[in-house]
Amino acid sequence: MATSKDDYQPLPSTISSSRLGAKKNQQLISNHYQRGSVCTFTFLLFASLAVGVLSGPIYNVIHKGAKGDGKTDDAQALTDTWNAACSDSKVPTLLIPSGYTFLADQLYFQGPCKSYIRVQVDGTILSPYKIRAVRENHWISFVGIEGITINGTGYIDGQGAVWYDGRAKQKCKSGPTAFVVGNCSHVNLKGLNFKNSPMMHLTIQRSFVVSVSGITITAPEDSPNTDGIHIQRSRHIQISHSVIGTGDDCISIETNTKDVNISHVRCGPGHGISIGSLGEDDSEAKVEGIRVSHCQFNGTTNGVRIKTCQTSAVQVSDVRYVDLVGSSATDEAILIKCSQSHPCTDIVLDNVRLKSADPRRNITNFCFNAFGTKKHPIVPALSCLTPN
Ligand SMILES: *[C@@H]1O[C@H](CO)[C@@H](O)[C@H](O)[C@H]1NC(C)=O
Ligand SMILES: *[C@@H]1O[C@H](CO)[C@@H](O)[C@H](O)[C@H]1NC(C)=O
Ligand SMILES: *[C@@H]1O[C@H](CO)[C@@H](O)[C@H](O)[C@H]1NC(C)=O
Ligand SMILES: *[C@@H]1O[C@H](CO)[C@@H](O)[C@H](O)[C@H]1NC(C)=O
Ligand SMILES: *[C@@H]1O[C@H](CO)[C@@H](O)[C@H](O)[C@H]1NC(C)=O
Repeated sequence: MATSKDDYQPLPSTISSSRLGAKKNQQLISNHYQRGSVCTFTFLLFASLAVGVLSGPIYNVIHKGAKGDGKTDDAQALTDTWNAACSDSKVPTLLIPSGYTFLADQLYFQGPCKSYIRVQVDGTILSPYKIRAVRENHWISFVGIEGITINGTGYIDGQGAVWYDGRAKQKCKSGPTAFVVGNCSHVNLKGLNFKNSPMMHLTIQRSFVVSVSGITITAPEDSPNTDGIHIQRSRHIQISHSVIGTGDDCISIETNTKDVNISHVRCGPGHGISIGSLGEDDSEAKVEGIRVSHCQFNGTTNGVRIKTCQTSAVQVSDVRYVDLVGSSATDEAILIKCSQSHPCTDIVLDNVRLKSADPRRNITNFCFNAFGTKKHPIVPALSCLTPN
């Protein structure tokens, strides 16, 4: 698992090189027939084989000794169940059933598995309410798996309050990320509810072909560094139909990431959707092919922004904002502030209409060293960029 420093660093809250403000909408069975008992037997055998291929054996954590009483640490029982399911070649399902709360200090689900695997989370997985050290600073990890569906109506509850308080009183510096998908491919994450992570809620790193849909992520608006979804060193990621409201970025995208489509996400409260911070530690941090569409931002400090550090090292180009409508709580609704030595190029604004959330106020734009084109209507008028 990645242990490089930037994997666990909270995003710096300052320096933004490009910012688009606040609330907005971006274009924002069966054919039975029996002929005597022998045939019936044959039919049943085939039927069970067919079901076996489709849904596979179920590994219910309760049957492996998990208590699910919210008091007993079930980490070992859950890990044992995972190990058993992961070595089954018949498309197994690890079941975390509804109606139970599984307290777990730390969960490390390691692949590769013998076949495609499903994890059905309908119950609650609960972090202990205490500050503690966990491996790699990740509470729940899925690592090195090729082909997995993680689905259900359950809750991943990080009980972060003790960490928020600890950080405020400087008793601890960071805290674990709640849920990490690392070194994985072909991951389908659906429906789960994440809440109150000590730090980031869901991190996708060193992974490719990952689809996240129908999830909710909630944490208090004032909880620090509780990003909803954080993506780094990954490719071909799709995030859709999800609701995210936390104390930091709804979605943040960093370091060596390519082809991320984000659509139909409701974001807020929080800091919006952020690319960066780029350029930390002078690293080469290429991020490209990020598409954000049909998203709603309500009560966020930013909409979609690109954050850079050491701005002279960072090249920003080919950024398009299309069909962006909404109201801004701050007067400076559009801020395109590029570095002196590396101007931003190919910036396109097309049908961007913003007004102040306060009808008595006017909003303004600010541009520095930004080049590209604008298509009407742009409200309020933008001083930079060439009309097209
Ligand atoms: C994940 O991949 C990285 C880079 O290949 C490697 O350093 C790390 O050990 C891997 N982690 C696991 C748990 O496989
Ligand atoms: C996902 O979980 C829901 C709720 O438990 C269930 O109804 C549905 O069948 C699951 N879908 C898949 C593809 O596993
Ligand atoms: C994202 O959308 C683009 C354009 O529609 C498409 O070419 C690409 O394959 C999509 N990527 C993913 C990961 O869905
Ligand atoms: C934005 O959020 C506020 C506060 O939660 C809510 O009252 C309002 O209806 C929301 N607006 C939209 C457009 O969703
Ligand atoms: C807003 O802009 C209009 C038109 O330029 C101007 O008349 C008005 O005084 C401005 N209002 C404020 C609060 O600056």
